[in-house]
Amino acid sequence: MAAVENYFLEANANTYGAFLTSRRNNEIILGARAAMADFFHCAADEVVFGQNMTTITFALARAIGRELSPGDEILLTTLDHDANFSPWKALEERGAVIRKADIRESDCTLDLQDLKSKLSSKTKLVAVGYASNLVGTINPVEEITRLAHAAGAMIFIDAVHYAPHGPIDVRALDCDFLVCSPYKFFGPHLGTLYGKRQLLRRFQPYKVRPSADTVPECWETGTQVQELIAGVHAAVEYLAALGRRSDPSAADRRSALLAAYRATVAYERTLVTRLIAGLTAIPGLRFFGISDPQRFRERCSTVSFRLAKGSPLDAATFLGERGIFTWDGNFYALNLTERLGVEQHGGVLRAGIVHYNTAGEVDRLLTALNEFCAA
Ligand SMILES: Cc1ncc(COP(=O)(O)O)c(C=O)c1O
Repeated sequence: MAAVENYFLEANANTYGAFLTSRRNNEIILGARAAMADFFHCAADEVVFGQNMTTITFALARAIGRELSPGDEILLTTLDHDANFSPWKALEERGAVIRKADIRESDCTLDLQDLKSKLSSKTKLVAVGYASNLVGTINPVEEITRLAHAAGAMIFIDAVHYAPHGPIDVRALDCDFLVCSPYKFFGPHLGTLYGKRQLLRRFQPYKVRPSADTVPECWETGTQVQELIAGVHAAVEYLAALGRRSDPSAADRRSALLAAYRATVAYERTLVTRLIAGLTAIPGLRFFGISDPQRFRERCSTVSFRLAKGSPLDAATFLGERGIFTWDGNFYALNLTERLGVEQHGGVLRAGIVHYNTAGEVDRLLTALNEFCAA
C-alpha cells in the first residue's frame, strides 16, 4: 500500500518525460524490473509487465503465431489452467495443430510418456504449468524443458500457481518464457513475463508505431498500471524480508528470496500433510491428486476434493458462513475437471495453504468439513 501511495504522491506521471515526477516513475519501473529479475533469476531487461497472465499470454501467442506455418504443432496439457490453453489453441486460426498431453488420473500427474510421444520435430512450442491450480501437482518442468529443447521446440511455463509456493530459477530451468502474476504472491493485480532476451527480440509484438521498439518495453502495450508496478517491487521486498528473518545471513535479495522459499516450502509441507491426513479420513471423500506423504515434493499445498454429501458449492457456502474461505468449481482448469468427470457436477472444492496459515486453521477446516458431512 505504501509503495502505491508513494507512486501517487511522488511519481504520478507517464514515463520518459523531461521532468521530476516522470523521472521518478522511470526509477520506480526500473526498480520493480530489477526486483522481478531477482525473483525470476534473470536480467532486468528480460522482465515484461502486463495486465495479467492471461493478457500477456494472448499477446505472446499472437506474436509467436506470426512465425508459425500451417502444420506446426503446439503441445499443451490437460492439467493446465485455460489461460495456458486457449491463447495457444487460438493459433489454430493460423494453421497450427494443437496436441494435448494427458494426465494419470490416479494421482493427477502429467503422463510424461504421453507427452514424449506427442513431441516431434513438428513441435514448435510446449506450454506447460509449473504447478496445477486445481490439484497442486508440481510438474517436472526442468525435464520437460530438456525434452522440448531436444525436439527443437520452445517452452512456455505458466508459474502463476507455483510462484507463492516455491522458488523460480529461469536460468537453471533454461526455459524460454515463464509467466506469473504478482497478485498470487501477495502483490498487486498484474502479470509478469520472463522471456529470453534473444526471443523477446526475435518475436514481434503487435504494437503502436511511436512506442519503444526496445526490449522489454515493446512488449508493454500502452500505459502500464504504474502504481501497481511499484507494488510489485514491494511484494518482492516483502518476500525477501521474510527470507532475511528466517536466514539473517542471506546477503543479497536473491539469497533472501531463496531463504523465504526454503522456509515456506518446509512450513507449507507440514500443514498440507496435516490437512491431507485429515481429509482422507473423512468417509466417502474423493481426493484428487497426490496424497502419499512420501511424494509431497511433487505437490504444493493446494488440495481439491469432493465430499460424499452435497455439491462443492454447498460445502463452500457452509464453510464461508463459518469464516473459512474455499473455492468451488473448476478455477478455469476446465480440461482437467472435464477429464476427471466432475465438470457437470459442480467441479471440486479447493482449499489452499500459504505461509501465513496455521495448524489451528487447518484443524478448523477439518472440523467444519466433518460437521458438514454429519449435518
Ligand atoms: C495456474 C494459473 N494460470 C493462469 C492464471 C491466470 O492468471 P491471471 O489471472 O493473471 O490472468 C491463473 C489464475 O488463477 C492460474 O491459477
